[in-house]
Amino acid sequence: MERETVIITGANSGVGKAAARQIAARGHRVVLACRDPDRAERARREIGGDCRVAQLDLARRRSVHDFTDWARRALGGVDVVINNAADFDLSQTERELTPDGFEKIWFTNHLAPVLLVDRLLDLLVASPRGRIINVSSKGLLFHPFLTVNLDDPMFAKRPFSVSKAYYQSKLAQIMHARWLSRQLTGTMVTANCVNVTNVKLGTDRHPDLPLWMKRVRAVKERFAITPERMAETYVKTALDEGPRNFTGELVEHPFKVVRPPAYATDPHCVARVMDLSYKQLGVGPAVSYEDPEIG
Ligand SMILES: NC(=O)c1ccc[n+]([C@@H]2O[C@H](COP(=O)([O-])OP(=O)(O)OC[C@H]3O[C@@H](n4cnc5c(N)ncnc54)[C@H](OP(=O)(O)O)[C@@H]3O)[C@@H](O)[C@H]2O)c1
Repeated sequence: MERETVIITGANSGVGKAAARQIAARGHRVVLACRDPDRAERARREIGGDCRVAQLDLARRRSVHDFTDWARRALGGVDVVINNAADFDLSQTERELTPDGFEKIWFTNHLAPVLLVDRLLDLLVASPRGRIINVSSKGLLFHPFLTVNLDDPMFAKRPFSVSKAYYQSKLAQIMHARWLSRQLTGTMVTANCVNVTNVKLGTDRHPDLPLWMKRVRAVKERFAITPERMAETYVKTALDEGPRNFTGELVEHPFKVVRPPAYATDPHCVARVMDLSYKQLGVGPAVSYEDPEIG
């Protein structure tokens, strides 16, 4: 296999860091795209190999622009983008806005990855085998009727719920990968989504959780898999040779293709969500072919 350049967001901890370690160990160049340069630098030293740090705060539009500008200048090419970072702190009780005025979870977990991919798309298309990996959550199983609220995805008019905001963003990420896979038909770029299961986070994450939530988390962690095990599915989806038509899929540990929620595969719903996302970002998609499923 050729040596590839792999960008992983939020790679200073958890599954992202474990994936970075596994990918670097296979001789690829890994970019740890993280909001905190010190945490990222510590991770880089631990990981070793051809691993570099770049600052990316997905809650800030300017940072996405600066990061992609840097990637163009510094990397010379991008083969894989893994949209791993996510904002999900159960201790958050109030709606928070980004400096650009977007609801923070919707922007960080969905709009920013859409923008990131969009601004790197020509580099991915130029790669002999560009791959986009979005990350969602197996917890969506507990929200079988969830949809993206097209009237109010940013909780401006309805009561804020951190869990609803998070799962809505994760549903949108399945749809984003699905949409990309259709839009990129005819290129060598594939787009898939990995559904992360219950993974050990470590007790230092989200220190502001109330005591009862910490206790629930401690019980959940007893049944959780390690970040390293989960990362194996990222790595296989991102790097292992597969058929070109392995795209638009939802994959779970241990590399098992699963059926996404029906809503997330309905081409009209997917088109509406992505249309809304691009309108909110105020940009047109970098590619727009006719969706063969809609005609
Ligand atoms: N752990 C689970 O049980 C579980 C279950 C389902 C889905 N997932 C998904 O799996 C993925 C990896 O999570 P994890 O378990 O490895 O948790 P984690 O260790 O908390 O990793 C999340 C990463 O996202 C980064 N991040 C958060 N906000 C960011 C921002 N504004 N800009 C840039 N980076 C930001 C964090 O950076 P900081 O270190 O700076 O905070 C951290 O590196 C996430 O997409 C998560 O939603 C996890």
